[in-house]
Amino acid sequence: MCGIVAGVSQGNVVPFLLEGLKRLEYRGYDSCGVAVLQRGEARRVRTLSRVCSLEADALAADLDGVTGIAHTRWATHGTPVINNAHPIFSGEQIAVVHNGIIENHEQLREQLRLKGYEFQSQTDTEVIAHLIRDHYQGDILTAVRDAAGLLQGAYAIAVMCRDEPKRIVGARQGSPLVVGIGDDGAFLASDTTAIADCAERFVYLEDNDVVDIHGTDIAIQDREGRTVSRREVKSRGHAQDTGLGAYRHYMQKEIFEQPVAVARTLATMSGDESLQAAMPSPEELADVSNLVMLGCGTSYYAALTACSWFEHFANVTARAEIASEFRYRDYVSQGNTLVIAVSQSGETADTLAALRYVQSMGEARTLAICNVAASAMVRQSRWAFITEAGVEVGVASTKAFTTQLVALFALAIAIGRQRGSVSQSEAATWMRQLAALPDAMRNVLAREPEIMAWAEALHQTEHALFLGRGAHFPIALEGALKLKEISYIHAEGYPAGELKHGPLALVTESMPVIVTAPNDALLQKLKSNMEEVRSRGGRLFVLADSDTGLMAGPGMRVIHMPAWRGPLSPVLHAVALQLLAYHVACLRGTDIDKPRNLAKSVTVE
Ligand code: G6P
Repeated sequence: MCGIVAGVSQGNVVPFLLEGLKRLEYRGYDSCGVAVLQRGEARRVRTLSRVCSLEADALAADLDGVTGIAHTRWATHGTPVINNAHPIFSGEQIAVVHNGIIENHEQLREQLRLKGYEFQSQTDTEVIAHLIRDHYQGDILTAVRDAAGLLQGAYAIAVMCRDEPKRIVGARQGSPLVVGIGDDGAFLASDTTAIADCAERFVYLEDNDVVDIHGTDIAIQDREGRTVSRREVKSRGHAQDTGLGAYRHYMQKEIFEQPVAVARTLATMSGDESLQAAMPSPEELADVSNLVMLGCGTSYYAALTACSWFEHFANVTARAEIASEFRYRDYVSQGNTLVIAVSQSGETADTLAALRYVQSMGEARTLAICNVAASAMVRQSRWAFITEAGVEVGVASTKAFTTQLVALFALAIAIGRQRGSVSQSEAATWMRQLAALPDAMRNVLAREPEIMAWAEALHQTEHALFLGRGAHFPIALEGALKLKEISYIHAEGYPAGELKHGPLALVTESMPVIVTAPNDALLQKLKSNMEEVRSRGGRLFVLADSDTGLMAGPGMRVIHMPAWRGPLSPVLHAVALQLLAYHVACLRGTDIDKPRNLAKSVTVE
């Protein structure tokens, strides 16, 4: 999704801005641009190509200045054409970059048109630029504050004015914005990663904050112009390894990083009964009898997988909710509820809104399971568990998913322990099983050649069906999601028991059926479901635990997974399905790390 980098530096700010944009590329974008104040002018370059092209264009245009703003755009209002790329100017005077959506842009556009403003783009951002110019009377801070008061919707903006060198003003409502301060200058970005190398101290802005970066001075105000103070956070070793190394794609690298990511996440748990310092205490968990988990995309599937763990180990009712739907439903509290927001980024707009919604309905016990410690969801929640997946660059989530699963599993054991449904020795056994998971994952990764052979057989299909039962049904959904998002093959996940209620009608030789088959209590039923496919000429691709006794035969390929790991088995099958989607996409030649139309962090509704 869109990304913002801006700053006032000691020397030429352009290299910092471009480096920041490169670090935001993983979020997905369709155009990018940069503007600086140079010799009394606002100058910009924009491109529909990648940031490396923008870099060449900026060099050719001799862009050089200490004050600048830059942006990667993921189109929402207006197609991806140059005129819609940011920075957006109002005349030669005001330049704006913007993340988010202005909901009342049509009404404001009409008012501005009547005042004589001409629009060069189809963006809602141009409304902001003209509005600021309309309020400008010599002080850009006041103009931004006044204009922001008229905007409805979610946004983060960075603004500069031709007449006020060495000054950048930012404002946020609903979309993240962070100030970074370092020896090289003061910066503003939508994501800490963008400025992790040029800043050591960070200030996370709150909704309705307006920040004034003036040379090296930084002041934060609320909408009424009152000074507000925000906590400063020191760098937490952000400069993590984000290089590709020997891998072809980040997704491949991140799939293979999973054993380490899971081990790191487990290492943060100090014992079987307390997970991390910012987690609820055992006493605070003791009377939890209901769980509501909120998430989107892959994070939602992690929550859905965990429902069975919470029911089984903790004996609590558990439901996973798609945040974008849940936020508009009528919430009925069951009492004694723990609400868990599950998110890689901690910034997904719908999950954040759903979390705020349950809080507004009186739920005070909220926990974020996030991969980004400084994210909005972590700050919004009473408690937080930080997964240690490390920076995830590929748009399709992989290592974030398995670390979320591990965190949720450990939480189910911890709640079970407090509620007396899991004994101390059982808890210790399960923690040992968790500790053995990284090795078991390596074992699955070693099956890559067999998975590549499946990919060869599958890459020309246009449709695929994924089947699973119990805790493996969400894994089938996740397998289908992975395949569709990176290979563009239409794929659906189904609970195998529902086959006869519709999808069986689709089964022919040209509809491969991929099955996740653990050696659990539902195996015999699953075998019957597979026979239903086989007897209709369907082609089966079965991931079977090695102790299932399932063997390859006519119409049925089998990859033997490690022996059944009980309730942890879904984590291993998920890894195999990630690899399958990855290799199918490789054979189809898609843009694996940045699939078309998708974004890493969806910060608009
Ligand atoms: C986007 C990403 C997905 C991710 C989802 C939720 O759609 O492409 O990979 O699962 O957002 O993101 P979150 O950061 O909340 O886990």
